[in-house]
Amino acid sequence: MASATRSFMRTLRTTAPTFRTTRTRSARLAVPQQTFRQQFRRGYASGKQTEEEVGNPTGLLWGALGLVTIAGGYGLYLKKPELFGKEVKPKGPFVPKFEDYQKVYDAVAKALEEKDDYDDGSYGPVLLRLAWHASGTYDKETGTGGSNGATMRFAPEGDHGANAGLKAARDFLESIKEQFPWISYSDLWILSGICAIQEMQGPKIPFRPGRSDRDVSFCTPDGRLPDASKDQKHIRAIFGRMGFSDREMVALSGAHALGRCHTDRSGYDGPWTFSPTTLTNDYYKLLLEEKWSWKKWNGPKQFEDVKTKSLMMLPTDMALIKDKGFRPHVERYAKDNDVFFKDFAEAVTTLFELGVPFTTSEDQRWTFKSSFD
Ligand code: HEM
Repeated sequence: MASATRSFMRTLRTTAPTFRTTRTRSARLAVPQQTFRQQFRRGYASGKQTEEEVGNPTGLLWGALGLVTIAGGYGLYLKKPELFGKEVKPKGPFVPKFEDYQKVYDAVAKALEEKDDYDDGSYGPVLLRLAWHASGTYDKETGTGGSNGATMRFAPEGDHGANAGLKAARDFLESIKEQFPWISYSDLWILSGICAIQEMQGPKIPFRPGRSDRDVSFCTPDGRLPDASKDQKHIRAIFGRMGFSDREMVALSGAHALGRCHTDRSGYDGPWTFSPTTLTNDYYKLLLEEKWSWKKWNGPKQFEDVKTKSLMMLPTDMALIKDKGFRPHVERYAKDNDVFFKDFAEAVTTLFELGVPFTTSEDQRWTFKSSFD
């Protein structure tokens, strides 16, 4: 150890002579130098070593001081580059990118997986229903309603009969909103509807942000969402007001492969399919292949399957196979799940963008990675 130290000091003396010119040093530095020298002698060299052998360690001290100054200067440069004449662009507000929205998607997907003690094991269906009811208020004539605004947060709209039970979905998303306060509720609700579809093994639904939250004065009047007790005329009036074709109306209805009716919400009861947390074309298959009869009960008029009496159809669902314009689409989707997924994805994309004043074009939509990718 002593010999290693000696050779290091020798190198220092030959390579950094200026560090040794310490005779003119200030008195302030004299004390630390002395102390250092004593410690150096005590700790590392035997008392027998002479000043000549040890060299003058003041050079080390200056070296260390130099390094500290350089490091400090560099740190200051990194923190405040403008002090060094570097042009600094002013920091604007946080502009979220695709990666940031994907993080929100991932958080919703994780919460969907973790909170599996709800209904049939997933909040997915009710999240999709929230996104649909936020969008389905659109009126193409007046340009009012739609997924911009998230006005269902407020009592007049939140209390509309059609929105009963959607508080469960809005509450579920509160912790996500806290985690990502920069996202608007209206973008969050739609993104979560997309996440629900994809995580329930449905098709990819492209997304673009741009919705902003609006105040209570933008709440839509009651009656814009469909009434399940009605017929095909009503379906066409409601979805026609949003600008949809017959084919799109049937494609969108395929969402009823998911979830269930609740007596304490709509008054109706039961699921449409045997796999209410996986999106398939089973809704169409069951509509065509099963025998349906009126359910005998005290609740609102609904159908049940004759065979198991465990599935249900609403009067509006049944209208899709009664109506000559709708039925061919039901048959097409029942035959081919890929065709259903393609049309469903397109119609849902349109639905979720109703009433939004986007500043980006349709080809700037993003597709989120699902947990299956
Ligand atoms: C004529 C059109 C429609 C009518 C009359 C209708 C009616 C209903 C009713 C009465 C419920 C039961 C609510 C409850 O008791 O919790 C329901 C649930 C549901 N609806 Fe629709 N709906 C229609 C269209 C749509 C569309 C277009 C979508 C999505 C694209 C959709 C997605 C859902 C989902 C996912 C559920 C299950 C919610 C849950 O499990 O909590 N519906 N719908």
